[in-house]
Amino acid sequence: MLYIWLTLLSLILLWNTTTADLGSNHETCCALTRLDIETRLSTKSPYRSIANYNDTQPHYPGCVPTRIWATIRHGTRMPSKSVIARAQERLTVIQDMLLQQAKPKLCAKELEQLRKWSWQHFNPEDDEKLLMAEGENELIELAERMQLRFPSLLPDPYDPDWYYMKYTATQRTLKSAQSFATGLFGRHRIHTVNYPRPLHRDPILRVSRTSFNILKYLKISNIYDYNTYDIKNKWLYITNLN
Ligand SMILES: *[C@@H]1O[C@H](CO)[C@@H](O)[C@H](O)[C@H]1NC(C)=O
Repeated sequence: MLYIWLTLLSLILLWNTTTADLGSNHETCCALTRLDIETRLSTKSPYRSIANYNDTQPHYPGCVPTRIWATIRHGTRMPSKSVIARAQERLTVIQDMLLQQAKPKLCAKELEQLRKWSWQHFNPEDDEKLLMAEGENELIELAERMQLRFPSLLPDPYDPDWYYMKYTATQRTLKSAQSFATGLFGRHRIHTVNYPRPLHRDPILRVSRTSFNILKYLKISNIYDYNTYDIKNKWLYITNLN
């Protein structure tokens, strides 16, 4: 989230310099939409702006899907405490610089939005790495799309003999698992889902913390693309697990 904001603010700065010759009375607001910006934030692009929305069931002649395995990263979370603190300090400085310009190149509505913007309600100690609403929605929607593609493998309702779901011992992965379950079974049924006891150093889910680094192996074998969250049109979703 921090990087999104840093990038948004630098885009606004960039906009200012490129439109400087249009005069200082900015009655027209910036024509950039959120989507224009959000699809261009590299690994910080919100998943909803770049996701694979094709939920058609894949058909391969002579084949039927029998099993699905997925290792899925948690959704969008808060940054670490040092990054939150740095963002609160630095982004406020940039905000003030933008607001104190003698001839601001922003329209009145944008100036008002910028004036109201604040990150001070976040607490670096308490909020670090917490899953955000954005992240919950990512997992809900990912589960819904996967269920549409593989309805025979991901049936609704939940059956403990059919599903095995596991998360590591952090708030962000617990919330992500619950959000994924929400996408599959609906919000009112997620309390029936059985999870094994979460481990902090799970040897499967946190392979990058073990001596055999499967992520490096996958990268070398060109199966794993760090910059796109998933491998399009394949059922296997592999992401950075940290
Ligand atoms: C959507 O997915 C189906 C099944 O995998 C595939 O056949 C089709 O080509 C995809 N459509 C697009 C537009 O990518």
